Amino acid sequence: MCGIVGIIGTKPVADAIVEALRRLEYRGYDSAGVSTLENGRLTRARAEGKLRNLEARLSEVQLGGHTGIGHTRWATHGAPTEQNAHPHMTSKVAVVHNGIIENFQELKDDLVAYGAVFSSETDTEIIAHLITRYIEEGATPIDAARRCLKELSGAFALAILIEGQENLMIVARQGSPLAIGYGDGETFVGSDAIALAPFTNTITYLEDGDWAVLTRDGAEIRDLEDRIVNRPVQKTIATTLLVDKGNHRHFMAKEIHEQPEVVSHTLSSFADIAEARIVLPDLPVDIEKLDRLTISACGTAYYAGLIAKYWFETYAGLGVEIDIASEFRYRNVPLKSGGLSLFISQSGETADTLAALRHCKASGQKTVSVVNVPQSTMARESDAILQTLAGPEIGVASTKAFTCQLVTLACLAIGLGVKKGLIDRDRERELVNALVSVPRHMSHVLQMEDQFEDICHILSKARDVLYLGRGTAFPIALEGALKLKEISYIHAEGYAAGELKHGPIALIDENVPIVVVAPGDELYEKTHSNMQEVAARGGQIILLTDQDMEQNGLELAAKITLPPTHPLVHPLIFALPVQILAYHTAVFMGTDVDQPRNLAKSVTVE
Ligand code: F6R
Repeated sequence: MCGIVGIIGTKPVADAIVEALRRLEYRGYDSAGVSTLENGRLTRARAEGKLRNLEARLSEVQLGGHTGIGHTRWATHGAPTEQNAHPHMTSKVAVVHNGIIENFQELKDDLVAYGAVFSSETDTEIIAHLITRYIEEGATPIDAARRCLKELSGAFALAILIEGQENLMIVARQGSPLAIGYGDGETFVGSDAIALAPFTNTITYLEDGDWAVLTRDGAEIRDLEDRIVNRPVQKTIATTLLVDKGNHRHFMAKEIHEQPEVVSHTLSSFADIAEARIVLPDLPVDIEKLDRLTISACGTAYYAGLIAKYWFETYAGLGVEIDIASEFRYRNVPLKSGGLSLFISQSGETADTLAALRHCKASGQKTVSVVNVPQSTMARESDAILQTLAGPEIGVASTKAFTCQLVTLACLAIGLGVKKGLIDRDRERELVNALVSVPRHMSHVLQMEDQFEDICHILSKARDVLYLGRGTAFPIALEGALKLKEISYIHAEGYAAGELKHGPIALIDENVPIVVVAPGDELYEKTHSNMQEVAARGGQIILLTDQDMEQNGLELAAKITLPPTHPLVHPLIFALPVQILAYHTAVFMGTDVDQPRNLAKSVTVE
C-alpha cells in the first residue's frame, strides 16, 4: 500500500518526512520520494527500492524547505522505477497520491493536446499537469486544485504543494484514508496516525469526499459539496502501537472502511491498470493444458473460493473441485499428479488448510496459495503464492482479507482465461476495467452506511435470520450469515435461493427476517419468485440489490440499492453491505465485535 506524509513546519522537513515514511513501511512499497518548497521553489528527490536509497539520495541533494510531501509507492500504473516514483511535479505543482485515477487516460489525452509533457507512466502525473493548466489559465492555487478534484474519478488520497505557497498544502480523500495532525505552528498529513505519531497525537480523520486546505495554523476542511465542515479532533494512541483503530470504534469497522484502498493495492499487483491487462506471476503448471483445479480453505476464505469457482468456470473454462479444508483432508480425493491445487487463507496458518496443502503436495499436486501473510507457513510451503495486500487484519471476523482474496481470485481466473485463449483482448480490457471500478463503488457503498441502521434494528430483534442468494450471490449469503452469527450471536443461515423450497421455507414466519442478496442480473427474476414465496408466508424481506427492478406488489421490510456494477464484481460490492449489517447489529447488541466469544483469529489447531 502506498503511504503519504506531508508537513507544513517551521524547520527543515525532508528528514522528518523520511522518518514518518519509515513508519508506513509495514504497508509495503517499492520506491519512495520527497518534495519540498525551498524559497518558494519545488525541489524533489526520489529513489527506487527502500527508504535507505532515498536517504542516500537526500544526502547528495540536501533538500531544504519547511514545507514538504513524501510518499512510499507500491507500483500501480507503471513499473517501480525512479521515474514513476512520487512526488510527480511540474514547475508549479507537486503531488503525492494513493489509489487509482480511473479516468486518467482521457484527462491525459486532453492535457497532451493542451501541450503538457509527461515524464512518467503514472496516472498521478495528470493531477500535477491539470492543476498547472488551471493556474496558467488564471485560477488561484486553491481553485485550480478544487477544479481538478472535481474532474477525478476513482478512489484516492492526495497531498499537493504549489510553487511559491510555503504556507499551503491541499489534501483530499476519496476512498483512501488520510489523517490531518495538528502541532504547535505546524500541520501534518499522513495516510494514518502511525505516520504522524513522531509529531503529534492530535488528529482529524478526513471523511470520504473531504478535501482540505492546510496552513501552519491548521486546516479548513470541505466536503464533496464544498461546504466547510467540522470533523472531530481526537487524541490517538498510535505512538505506542503499529496498528490503531483510527477514528473507528472497532478494528472491524476500520477494516471494512479500508477496503477501497486495500482492494486497489491488491488489484495493482495482479493487473497493469493503465493497459487494462492481468499480470500474473509464474505458476507451476502448464496453463494451456490445465482443465481442473482443486480448492481448499476454511470459513470466509472458503466462501471466497466458492465465488471463485463460478469465475474459474466462466472465465477460464476450468472444472473446480472445492471443499472445506477439514473435510477435504480426510476424503480420498483422487488427485492427478501434476494437477493444480489452490489454498486460500488470510493467516496462512490455519491448521486444516495447511494439512490439505501438505496432503496435496504429498500426492504430487502443484500448490498455489492466496495468503495475506507472506512469511506464513502456507506461503513458505507452496510452490507459488498470490499475496493479498490487505495489511494486518486485527478484527477476528474477516472483512478486508475476504475482498482482497476475491480480487486476487478474479485476476487469476481472468489471467488463466487469457492464457488459455478463452478471453480476447477486448474482453480482458472490459473485465479489468470492471475490477478497477471496484474501489470507487466500494467507497460509494461505505458512504451509504447510515441507511443500514433501521435494518440492524430489525435483525437485532430476531432469533433467526436467513440469507438467500443465487449465483455468486449465494456465497455472499453464506458469508453474510457467518458474519452475523459470529459477531452478534444471532442464529443465521445462508441458502441458495433455489433451495428454499427444499426445506428452509418451513422456518419462515413473521419473526424471521430474510436478507436477500439479489443483484439485478439475469438471475434476479428467479430470486424474485423466491421472495414472493417468502412474502406469502409472512417473512420480512430485506432486499440488497443494485437496480430499481419492478417489485410486482412484493412487500419489503427494507431495501438497499447499491450502485449498479459489472456482474463480475457483484460479489466484491455486495460483500460490503453484509459486513456492515453484521457489524452494526453487533454494535447495537453490545457484543465484543473485535474479539467475539469462543473465536480465535487464526485457527492453528484441528
Ligand atoms: C470468519 C473468519 C474465519 C476465517 C477462517 C480461515 O469471519 O474470519 O472463518 O476465514 O478461520 O482463516 P484463514 O483465512 O486465516 O485461513
